[in-house]
Amino acid sequence: MLSYWLRLGLLLVLPTAIFAEEKPCTVHDSANNYYDLNPLRTSKDHQFETDGGHTVYLNLCGGIKTKPWNTGLDDDSHVDIAGLVRRDHGDFAIGLVNTTLEVKDGGLMLRQSQGSPCTGVEDERGSSTILFICDMSVYSAGKPVLLDSWPSGEDRACHYELEWRTHYACPVGERGFFGGLIVFLTISIIIFLMAFMVISTIYNRFVLRQRGFDQLPKFTFGHAREVWEVSSEFVHALVDYVAAAWNTRPSGFRHVNSASHHWTSRDEEEALRSSDPLGPNPEYAHGTEEGD
Ligand SMILES: *[C@@H]1O[C@H](CO)[C@@H](O)[C@H](O)[C@H]1NC(C)=O
Repeated sequence: MLSYWLRLGLLLVLPTAIFAEEKPCTVHDSANNYYDLNPLRTSKDHQFETDGGHTVYLNLCGGIKTKPWNTGLDDDSHVDIAGLVRRDHGDFAIGLVNTTLEVKDGGLMLRQSQGSPCTGVEDERGSSTILFICDMSVYSAGKPVLLDSWPSGEDRACHYELEWRTHYACPVGERGFFGGLIVFLTISIIIFLMAFMVISTIYNRFVLRQRGFDQLPKFTFGHAREVWEVSSEFVHALVDYVAAAWNTRPSGFRHVNSASHHWTSRDEEEALRSSDPLGPNPEYAHGTEEGD
């Protein structure tokens, strides 16, 4: 029986442990504030213009939706480009998607690299950093602003530094691991208590044949143990029954016959004997026949 509950417990605890890891595009700072930039992943790319009038397309936590053209990357369509500058002779990718956020003084930092090969510089590829700054006054998604790019020149620039003010960069409420655990435990205890009260009442009424206030659930250790044992046995029988039905082997049903039942409490036994002399205890039934 113990292994049943161990396995069940493991099954319930495992998902909670997985949630303890950082999800894409989210991060916790040292004070355990939680940030989530996923709302900035949009169906239409964010856009802005460079000083030279070229359009920059940008998306977050997933690739851009704009179809890239002549980026110099191995295969435009099979990589997740985080952003690109639409230039006269082709698109310049300013980095591939990265969903890992870094907590910095004054904001969240996103680093994107491995973009298009840089013009005139060997072995360098387009990259960008975006500093997200919490600004509650920016109620919509806000817009990225280009702070700097180098080397100079619209067609040679390879590295881009951006800043993005938005309320999405502010900490949001999150049910952390321990909060989740407490909610999980509270709900489990409530369900357990409710199940106990229902099973206890059924047990008192139909097994112990008590009436009136006597059939209400009792919160004593001995009673709890009886209820627990009866429930365990019921679960066992149910599992056996389902397993047998699944195998569709008639012999499988032998596991659930009433003779396998053993008395779990003196109260239960006596109640059944006094109220039902031809009850399911074969020994007792046999005894009365002999006595007659
Ligand atoms: C992704 O971001 C992390 C954190 O800023 C950084 O360490 C890593 O190098 C980045 N990866 C790529 C491929 O840009």
